Amino acid sequence: MPAHGVLLLPTPLKLYPPLDSRSQTFCSLYHLTGSRNQKVSKLKARFWESIRSGILKNNTAQVIEPPSTVEEEEESLPEEFVLVERTSPDGTVEQIIFSSGGDVDVYDLQALCDKVGWPRRPLSKLAAALKNSYIVATLHSISKPAGEEGNGQKKLIGMARATSDHAFNATIWDVLVDPSYQGQGLGKALIEKLIRALLQRDIGNISLFADSQVVEFYRNLGFQPDPEGIKGMFWYPKY
Ligand SMILES: CC(C)(COP(=O)(O)OP(=O)(O)OC[C@H]1O[C@@H](n2cnc3c(N)ncnc32)[C@H](O)[C@@H]1OP(=O)(O)O)[C@@H](O)C(=O)NCCC(=O)NCCS
Repeated sequence: MPAHGVLLLPTPLKLYPPLDSRSQTFCSLYHLTGSRNQKVSKLKARFWESIRSGILKNNTAQVIEPPSTVEEEEESLPEEFVLVERTSPDGTVEQIIFSSGGDVDVYDLQALCDKVGWPRRPLSKLAAALKNSYIVATLHSISKPAGEEGNGQKKLIGMARATSDHAFNATIWDVLVDPSYQGQGLGKALIEKLIRALLQRDIGNISLFADSQVVEFYRNLGFQPDPEGIKGMFWYPKY
């Protein structure tokens, strides 16, 4: 999404969207459980916060800390994990790795942008944009032919990045999946995981600019135009 589009914000009620059955094949049970626990811990946290700030405002009663068990702790998303593993008939094993660690080669990214038909941007600016992003989430495919030693061939097949004020807001940019990997649920998984990584850092106000042809893709993920009609506005140079 290097161009401009419609500003979409996630639906507040869907900040932790339930993973559908296809996503479950991409995520281990750990992450599903983590998502439920996050909901429970957040609700409990809000409950205790409201007690502290409201009912006990003019009261000197001692605040009792909420009971905490290991199960109720928020399970954090690892920085890198295997999203999908599959074996083709010739025995080649392919893993698709999600990472929020920002490990992107700018030439690989440019090649990926070429594949989806985006206009080229200066490499130095692309590198600066990556370097100054808050989170750069990637999907890499690692293929290892049957019986072959070593690490396998690694290629960038998807990316999305978020810029942020590190406190309240984040905006998602440059969402793309290699055309030969599209339609497999990977774009959805990439954005879901990026949202989780942002929520884990307590960034709850997440927005993006959707090209008109992908509005439904984001709507499915819980994004919506601002309910109060706030519009994204642009200033373009006139020279
Ligand atoms: C948009 C993009 C990232 C989607 O990635 P993807 O891996 O193909 O998407 P998924 O397979 O995860 O699709 C998830 C769901 O969104 C739907 N979807 C995917 N692309 C869609 C689109 N363009 N419009 C509407 N729905 C779409 C899928 O049908 C699927 O629906 P389902 O869950 O009901 O089955 C990918 O098509 C892409 O890279 N496009 C080119 C670059 C681009 O336009 N980026 C967005 C710029 S704002």
